Amino acid sequence: MAQQNGHPTFSSRIGFILVTAGAAVGLGNVWSFTYVAGKNGGGGFMLVYLLTLACIATPVFMAELLLGRMGKASPTMALKNLQESVGSKLPWRLPAWLGLGSTILILSFYSVIAGQVMAYGGEALQGGFAGWSPEQVTALDASYKSGVLQPTLWAGIFMAMSALIVSAGVREGLERTSRYLMPALFVMLIGLVGFAAVKGDLSAAVDFLFGFNEMKLSPTIFMEAVGQAFFTLSVGVGGIMIYGSYMGADVNLPRATLWIVLMDLLVALLAGMAIFPLLFAHNMDPAVGPGLVFVTLPLVFSEIPGGALVAFVFFLLLTFAAITSSIALMSPMTQRLVEAGWKRSKAAWFVASLAFAFSMLTTLSFNNWSDFYPLAFIGLDHHTFFDLIREGVNNIVLPFGGLAFALMIAWGLKRDDVRNSLPMQEGGLFSLWYGALKYLVPIAIIALFISVI
Ligand code: PHE
Repeated sequence: MAQQNGHPTFSSRIGFILVTAGAAVGLGNVWSFTYVAGKNGGGGFMLVYLLTLACIATPVFMAELLLGRMGKASPTMALKNLQESVGSKLPWRLPAWLGLGSTILILSFYSVIAGQVMAYGGEALQGGFAGWSPEQVTALDASYKSGVLQPTLWAGIFMAMSALIVSAGVREGLERTSRYLMPALFVMLIGLVGFAAVKGDLSAAVDFLFGFNEMKLSPTIFMEAVGQAFFTLSVGVGGIMIYGSYMGADVNLPRATLWIVLMDLLVALLAGMAIFPLLFAHNMDPAVGPGLVFVTLPLVFSEIPGGALVAFVFFLLLTFAAITSSIALMSPMTQRLVEAGWKRSKAAWFVASLAFAFSMLTTLSFNNWSDFYPLAFIGLDHHTFFDLIREGVNNIVLPFGGLAFALMIAWGLKRDDVRNSLPMQEGGLFSLWYGALKYLVPIAIIALFISVI
């Protein structure tokens, strides 16, 4: 990171924010946000999502960053160091180990979706989607998923690219790239929203996402909204802890948190406002499932002037956003293996191969095994391997990790030590954050778990 007379410069603070925002912004904002919001009926989901994001996931995000900055090692080691520093007998490392396992599971479906994004970029290069009808677009998604070879190949390419970047350890390069690509993604999305507002049914989309009058609420919707809030901020697995361990003492932690969360939220809202107006204009079903972006985005590009180029650039930017998140997902396990004496490149390729092997479960869930529900016997009907992995990790493991991080900060460490290491003044914002971690987060997450049992 940039240094000036031994002090990190202003640019390094912006750099930190952009790189960490890169870890947060990814397929979660475009693919999973729209798919989960669509599946859960919009308004009610959005309300819970926004509340959870602000009151639960954001305080935990800041807690995870701080644990990383205080522990200065891979999550398992960092938490062990902190546990020893306070002489606790509790298994502080447990959530970090669970986190390591879940990063592989997340990558296993993340790589398949990212692979399809890349394949669509390739499709755009070959002439794009000009003049395509909704039926043609839906058929492309179906035919892509009906084979095993293509999705497997693209998932493999995606994991290989991630492994190459992680083994090269190109943090600086990434920082420089994020500086341009993140704003580029914003500009692109704003353009698409403008287009969707003109060509699509904007008021139906606004009604769907923010029309709280026809609100549907159920424990499942709560669960999905909480899971999405944690997933989109990358919180609960230890990935953010690693970014915290690189964070200089000069970075204002609450301010950095605020910027990152706002950027992440903005990308999701823009993606929603780019996709839903066209979906409603074509009378399509918002609850189609994980293929939602793949049956709607090409429609945006089918009508846009210069659509092929716009589509290519968009899928490229989205691939980049997915890679920066994939790096965050690979880091905890890679770092742990490096601490155990492995060479960085060996560790990175090992992690990528493991994720790639598991990606078969998602690939097959979209074709041959789309009617195979492994846990139907315990009542989880209509849940493929992909559904079980995504919902299990996002809705249970991430909130559990977040709960553990909140408890460590607010109940495990000393209040003054936490405050001094931020550093923040007593009262005001600090009390609000600390109180949220001490009471609100544990009560909300435990209540949620109880309600769905
Ligand atoms: N937040 C990332 C996204 O929205 C996904 C992610 C989850 C990354 C957990 C790291 C850890 O795409």
